Amino acid sequence: MSRLLRTGLNAGTEAPRVVGGSGVHFVLEDGRRVLDGSNTGGPLGHGHPRMAEALRKAADLPMVSEGWSWSGRDKAAEDLFEIGLVGEESWAGAVRFCISGSEANDITLSLAQALTGRKAIATRERAYHGLVGLARDVTVQPHWHGGLAAPAGGTRLPPAGAPVHVLPAPDGTLYRSATEAAARPERPLDQRLAGAPAMLRSSAAVIIDYTQGGFYHDGAYQDAVAAIARREGAFWIADEVVTGMGRSGRAFAFQGGTSRPDMVTLGKGLGGGMMAVAAIVISKDLAAELDGKSWQNYGTLRGHPMTMAAVSAYLAILRDEALLARVHALEGFYARRLGEIARRHPSVARVAGQGLHWTVELHGPDWRNWLADTPEAPLASRVAGLALDKGAVIGTSGEQTSLFLAPPLIISETESERLLAILDESLELADREHNVMMQGVQ
Ligand SMILES: Cc1ncc(COP(=O)(O)O)c(C=O)c1O
Repeated sequence: MSRLLRTGLNAGTEAPRVVGGSGVHFVLEDGRRVLDGSNTGGPLGHGHPRMAEALRKAADLPMVSEGWSWSGRDKAAEDLFEIGLVGEESWAGAVRFCISGSEANDITLSLAQALTGRKAIATRERAYHGLVGLARDVTVQPHWHGGLAAPAGGTRLPPAGAPVHVLPAPDGTLYRSATEAAARPERPLDQRLAGAPAMLRSSAAVIIDYTQGGFYHDGAYQDAVAAIARREGAFWIADEVVTGMGRSGRAFAFQGGTSRPDMVTLGKGLGGGMMAVAAIVISKDLAAELDGKSWQNYGTLRGHPMTMAAVSAYLAILRDEALLARVHALEGFYARRLGEIARRHPSVARVAGQGLHWTVELHGPDWRNWLADTPEAPLASRVAGLALDKGAVIGTSGEQTSLFLAPPLIISETESERLLAILDESLELADREHNVMMQGVQ
């Protein structure tokens, strides 16, 4: 029996046993070098020399808790405004650092509850916002319930927390199969959001992210939700934990719309893949509202000097290596190749994505009622297993039918071509099962 507890993403599958990494590759225990094709926490791949150097220097820094001021924390805040928030000066007010995306979301949601006096919170269909507190409450993908999934039955779910309203997800895909389009026809935005005003009227905040469940919403959806939130007195929180600072090919995914959030959460790649660090950016209006008040919570390791050094180093690399432009340029390449791949494989229901984050959803069991309680490895995990044998790590988000690609932002077009070729070959496994299923239907 392993001493290490297993969690949702590796349960039921053999997780790759990583012993090292460099550039866009992992080194596995069996000596193989495999492409890291799905790692939202590692924007610079592995062992980026400038990051490593910055952290070696930071190892000499003192331990300073959030309760004390620290010059490196002030510098990280300045860097975030000067590099990450450039062009956003008219609304962005202040930043606070914390440790994880989950925590950043929980903190912003509880602040919204305190400011509005409302308990309910809102998100959109198939959202994942984290595993603690209110962030878990608005994680509405059924299998991320935070309880225990038992393949033999007897799955145990924790009791519900805050009341949660769930908005319909946005449309917008690169590809949809004919069956998928017939099963879930796209609806005009006003129809889709018809119930939103009533939901947001009683909500402290609506939190929306830009990738989870394979939904990459566009500016129109964002602007419509933002306008409703403003009218109904709910805060709008943009969860940019995945998309912020690089992956979407712009500093923030919300820059695809004209509205600007009340609060933004960042995490994952913010520490360059080398430190656990997250952040909350609040608007100028909100910063003015907090002025003269003391926000009554505090963390021992939030804003730790080593994490602050990592943030500053990552932002400098993002700027100096012009990574946003690079991701933006690769976006077209991925869109073209994934479109071709999807059309070749009958098992593919849907492809959507942005920048260097892409989801390939397969036909198969409905994700809406799956609690990770089936004994067999889900189809997506089996396709990912085959991809690993062929030399690439492709992610599944622990879902049954979704595969996702999120390679390091430093990946080249040749390496991307190899990653997509491996995906292409591995999808044949899903095609075979799809064909058998279709024969059964006929
Ligand atoms: C959109 C989104 N928000 C929040 C989180 C939670 O971040 P963390 O895993 O750092 O707690 C995740 C993690 O996958 C995420 O994808």
